[in-house]
Amino acid sequence: MSQLSTRPLHPNFGLEIMGLDLSQPVSDQDFAFVRRAFAEAGVALIRGQEHIAPDDHIAFSRRFGPLEEHVLTQFLLPGHPEIFVVSNIVENGRHIGAHGGATQYHSDLAYLSEPSLGSIFRCIECPDEGGETAFVSMAAAYDALPDALRRRLTGLDAVYDYAWSYDRRMAKIRGPLTAEQKAKTPVIAHPAVRAHPETGRAALFLSDVWVRCFEGMDEAESQALLAEVMAIAKAPEAEYRHQWRPGDIVLWDNRSTMHRVCPYDAENTRRLMHRTTITGDRPVRAKAA
Ligand SMILES: [Fe+2]
Repeated sequence: MSQLSTRPLHPNFGLEIMGLDLSQPVSDQDFAFVRRAFAEAGVALIRGQEHIAPDDHIAFSRRFGPLEEHVLTQFLLPGHPEIFVVSNIVENGRHIGAHGGATQYHSDLAYLSEPSLGSIFRCIECPDEGGETAFVSMAAAYDALPDALRRRLTGLDAVYDYAWSYDRRMAKIRGPLTAEQKAKTPVIAHPAVRAHPETGRAALFLSDVWVRCFEGMDEAESQALLAEVMAIAKAPEAEYRHQWRPGDIVLWDNRSTMHRVCPYDAENTRRLMHRTTITGDRPVRAKAA
C-alpha cells in the first residue's frame, strides 16, 4: 500500500499529494499513485521540495515521458536544457527567464501539433504577495456548458497560429521570433473538445491566446464563440489560485487544464520558477455527448 495521502485543492479539481520526497527515487507504486492522481485531478501539488536539485526535478519529470526543449532556447537553464526558466529577474542586463508572457489563461505548447502532456513547475523564489498561478479545469468547463454549445464545439477544429499571436502580444516584450522559431510553429488545428487519453474524460481544448479561428468559420464569428466559451471556463468560482511557497511543485495536466500567472510587483520582487514540460500526443476528438 502506498503511504501517500491527498487532500482536495478545489471542489472541481486538483489535489495536494502528501508524503513524497523527490530527492529520493520514487517507487513504482508511489509513482503509479501520483500519475493516476495527476490525470484524474488535473493539478497536483507537492510541497516541501526546496532541497531537491535540477537533476531530481528532471528525473521525476521523465517518469511521465520524454521532455520538451522549449522553442525559446534563450530561457533554458544552462547545463539542463530540459528546464525552462520562468522569471522576472534581470542579470547582466538580460532576463534570465521567460517573463511577462503567461498572464492569460493557456495550456502549455497547445500551438504545437503534439501539445504538451503536462508541466511540472517548481518554485525557487516568489513574492510574498501576488504571483500566484491560477488554474481552471477544462473538463469541468466542458461539463458546465449548455448542451447545444457542447454539441456544437465537439464537431469543431480550432486553428492555432503562434506567430500571429506572438506578433500581436509578445514581440514588443521579448523581441521578434527568429526564422527558425517560426519554422517550428506552423499554423495547425486541434479538435475543440478532446478525450483524455488516460481517463477518457472530455475536456475543452481551446485558447484565446493562440486560436485565431475555427475551421470553416471567419475570424470575427470564431472570436465571438471563443469569448463565449472562455467566459464560462474562466468564471471566478471555477478557478484555483495557488499561492506559492519556495519548494512547492505543481504538476498540471495540459490536456485538461489551463493556467495563468496572477499580477505581482515585478519591479521590486523576485519570482524564479523552473518548469519541465512533458511531451504529449496529438489530441483526439471526444465523442459527441
Ligand atoms: Fe504556461
